[in-house]
Amino acid sequence: MENGCLEQLVLPSAVPLYRGKVRDIIDLGDRLLMTTTDRISAFDRVLTTIPHKGEILNRISCSWFAKVSDIVPNHILEELSPRTVVVKKTRVLPLEVVVRGYLTGSAYRAYQEGKPVSGIHLPRGMKKNEPFSLPLVTPSTKEAVGTHDEPISEEEILSRKILTPALWEEVKEKALAVFCRGTEIARKRGLILVDTKYEFGLADDGTLYLVDELHTPDSSRYWYASSYEESLTTGVEPRQLDKEYFRAWLLSKGFQGNGDSPAIPIEVRMAVSRRYIEAFEAIEGTSFHPLAANPEAETQIVLSYLEKIR
Ligand SMILES: Nc1ncnc2c1ncn2[C@@H]1O[C@H](COP(=O)(O)OP(=O)(O)OP(=O)(O)O)[C@@H](O)[C@H]1O
Ligand SMILES: [Mg+2]
Repeated sequence: MENGCLEQLVLPSAVPLYRGKVRDIIDLGDRLLMTTTDRISAFDRVLTTIPHKGEILNRISCSWFAKVSDIVPNHILEELSPRTVVVKKTRVLPLEVVVRGYLTGSAYRAYQEGKPVSGIHLPRGMKKNEPFSLPLVTPSTKEAVGTHDEPISEEEILSRKILTPALWEEVKEKALAVFCRGTEIARKRGLILVDTKYEFGLADDGTLYLVDELHTPDSSRYWYASSYEESLTTGVEPRQLDKEYFRAWLLSKGFQGNGDSPAIPIEVRMAVSRRYIEAFEAIEGTSFHPLAANPEAETQIVLSYLEKIR
């Protein structure tokens, strides 16, 4: 809990706590209490904590959920603190629903190797970072902890009966509509929402909910629109609002996810924190003033809530 970072909730052992890479989750039956900690993962491993990261991610998510609530219901029930929410517990669909507006990242790498992207054959001669004529839905399987998610085609989703055709159509339609709204709002802030990952869950009555996190720098790639325009003439990569800085630093230390990770100096953690703050300010269009409680007080907020609903 160095520098006031929240690494994890420390709770009595009787509390049913699940730790994801980033979130600590308490199962309350039909609801979940979800605290976004300051943990950061790269190459699918949790490596350190970043000041303000949890609060920034949670506040960005909550604000995006509200901006698309007319398109699809979301899991948020109550905001307990800047980093802790009570959400509706759903059966999460075992798919990462990735939507892409541009040919970049892993999709570009697959394209270069002549492979289809989640079963979609792209037109020949596309250049890196070129926009698609319409955004693409390129799902991946949601694999167990420690294994990498693999792209999956629509045909396979249906032939393996992972989703029914009707549910898959609904997922695609909602994902594209949310992405479209995200793109429009980001544009007004001088940002391009390049690609993002959605998670959906089903309620007991079959209603489809948007769950997990939404349009955060962890789940999405954003470019500064001005740097994208410039990149078309200069060929310099557009300026990105995401975790690339941390990954690049790790790679520069020879770390690619295997073996011991390098010691991460406070300067690097602060530099990553500044990037999260910059992302918050760019996405939200307001300056960032930290509101989250210290780890002890956050734990108290959680314990008081558990006491209240007992
Ligand atoms: N409304 C919801 N109902 C049920 N589960 C949810 C809901 N929202 C999010 N989740 C799940 O909670 C977890 C969020 O935690 P976190 O983001 O730390 O996990 P992760 O490391 O990304 O994924 P995992 O722990 O599954 O490997 C994810 O497994 C996500 O699918
Ligand atoms: Mg997650």
